[in-house]
Amino acid sequence: MLNQLINYLNENNIESFFISRPQNVRYVSKYTGDDSYLLITRNENYFITDPRYTEQAGQECHGYTIVNWREQGKTVASAVKNIVESLNLKNFAFESDFVTHNVYNELIKTNVEAIPLIGVIEKFRSVKTPEEIYNLRVACQIADRAFERIIKDIRVGITEKELASRLQHYMVMEGSDTKPYGNILISGKRTSLLHGIPSNKTVEYGDFVLMDYGCQFNGYMSDMTRTVVVGKATPQQREVYELEKKMLEDATKKMVAGAKATEVYEASIEAIKDTKYFEYHYNGIGHGIGLYVHEIPFMGPRSDEILQVNNVITIEPGIYIPNWGGVRIEDQVLIKEDGNELLTNSTRELIEL
Ligand code: GLY
Ligand code: MN
Repeated sequence: MLNQLINYLNENNIESFFISRPQNVRYVSKYTGDDSYLLITRNENYFITDPRYTEQAGQECHGYTIVNWREQGKTVASAVKNIVESLNLKNFAFESDFVTHNVYNELIKTNVEAIPLIGVIEKFRSVKTPEEIYNLRVACQIADRAFERIIKDIRVGITEKELASRLQHYMVMEGSDTKPYGNILISGKRTSLLHGIPSNKTVEYGDFVLMDYGCQFNGYMSDMTRTVVVGKATPQQREVYELEKKMLEDATKKMVAGAKATEVYEASIEAIKDTKYFEYHYNGIGHGIGLYVHEIPFMGPRSDEILQVNNVITIEPGIYIPNWGGVRIEDQVLIKEDGNELLTNSTRELIEL
């Protein structure tokens, strides 16, 4: 990962790179904590943090000079500027989408050329290594096991918040890092809220319950959605569910290396494009996932992405009907040369509880 980055810097005549996006710090250095930064140069790499994290950084990051920024400047940015100046570098790059206006103003108080970059490490991150695929696969297996447990708890009278909190507990008990997220767990008419958050609403007979959640394993994330019915589905609930499942199946079949994201999108709408439900679908049908939940490649009608071997991407078309409800099923998919592998494997069939 570091080699890839050093090659990029050499090819572009960049002498150093200040990395401030937390997921990129982790990707490059393997550091698992917070509030830390990297300065990569051709000769030496600096891990810039404060005394809360110096010991941890020493344990986790090899080949770095660990710098307590408080000994170098008043702020992280001024410390970075001071190091760059002391090394007599001609230039330094920075992640222009991950520095604040204040940090930027501090960084450029120097005669050293400052080069804004966007998305360099994110592009490396979009193609996963075997180790990353292993971590993602385990994260998905944990989410599948948590699903088996949570569906036993869904019953009339329980609140969305309690279900969400149990779901998070199950993920940790099944092996997740301690930062799982079970943030979308909604029921009844609220299931049309694409990103609704759990409320004090109690589950009622006949409700859809939509659970969109995931966990982390070694920092790598899963993201899956299942929608179930409490009791017996009405004919319209079943109709919408079956259309949604067909959208997902049609889209998943197209997810192979070399496919355009737009082709996957076109496949996803095939089942509904001539129905009254077309107006209720959402264009964003998936996203890359890794150390962060929403990464490139993003999937939708305006995407210019082409799927590559070892992308890991969610596929999540959905139908959302205001004041009635919504259905989303979401799986996480590993892209292969001649097909794909589902990393989440909970049933896609309608579950009536
Ligand atoms: N699973 C919902 C989202 O990715 O936004
Ligand atoms: Mn998602």
